[in-house]
Amino acid sequence: MDLDRAMTQRRSVRAYLPRPVERAVLEQIIAQARWAPSWGNTQSWEFYVISGETVGRITADLQAAVAAGDDQRPDVEMPLEFPEPLMGRYRTLGMNLFELLGIERDDKEKRLAHYLRNFNAFGAPHLVYIAVRDGLTPYAVFDAGAAAYAVTLAAHQRGVGTCELAALVRYPDLVRRHVDFPAGRRLVIGLALGYPDPDHPANAFQPTRESLDEVATFID
Ligand SMILES: Cc1cc2nc3c(=O)[nH]c(=O)nc-3n(C[C@H](O)[C@H](O)[C@H](O)COP(=O)(O)O)c2cc1C
Repeated sequence: MDLDRAMTQRRSVRAYLPRPVERAVLEQIIAQARWAPSWGNTQSWEFYVISGETVGRITADLQAAVAAGDDQRPDVEMPLEFPEPLMGRYRTLGMNLFELLGIERDDKEKRLAHYLRNFNAFGAPHLVYIAVRDGLTPYAVFDAGAAAYAVTLAAHQRGVGTCELAALVRYPDLVRRHVDFPAGRRLVIGLALGYPDPDHPANAFQPTRESLDEVATFID
């Protein structure tokens, strides 16, 4: 697939078929993602690809924590608010997505149900966690971000959908109950991964991007 096309056509997938992705394809995706750049080629990322019943155990615990209103306790500090114009973009995403899904502004029940689906990884049959060692600078998280994007593109190239999900790392201790990560790791991001459900309206969502003028300055 042409790289420009892949970069513009990849979308965050928010509904999956239950069919697992073949092990060989999972391995190809991660093998490809290893080619992401990193500070001094330190490759500070570690990938954990989770399949089978463990996925359901993790997502059940995450959803239960949300339903109980438990305090979130991510390994990497998360934003609570944004300055403008970022906050406006964030709100636009939510508004447009809810409109597409037919969720009214004041329909608290449906909003909560959608929020919970985040913690169910939107029904994906696989989770990919990207971890880095404790004690590294923020550039290790930067490297992990490059690796995460590489996973999304390598998956897209193979017809496999992904969604980077902060939701999957809001309660890292619950994930650790089910996955034996080495000690001293921070869970930076989790990704839902699987074949997209072509019939689900969420997968027709088209996010926007700011114009080039808005985000770029060219200095001659
Ligand atoms: C670090 C990070 C965390 C994210 N967390 C979530 C999330 O918890 N729930 C969600 O639906 N999407 C999440 N996303 C996906 C973004 O909403 C998505 O990338 C953005 O809206 C742009 O859409 P696109 O990926 O389809 O181009 C996350 C993306 C990133 C990079």
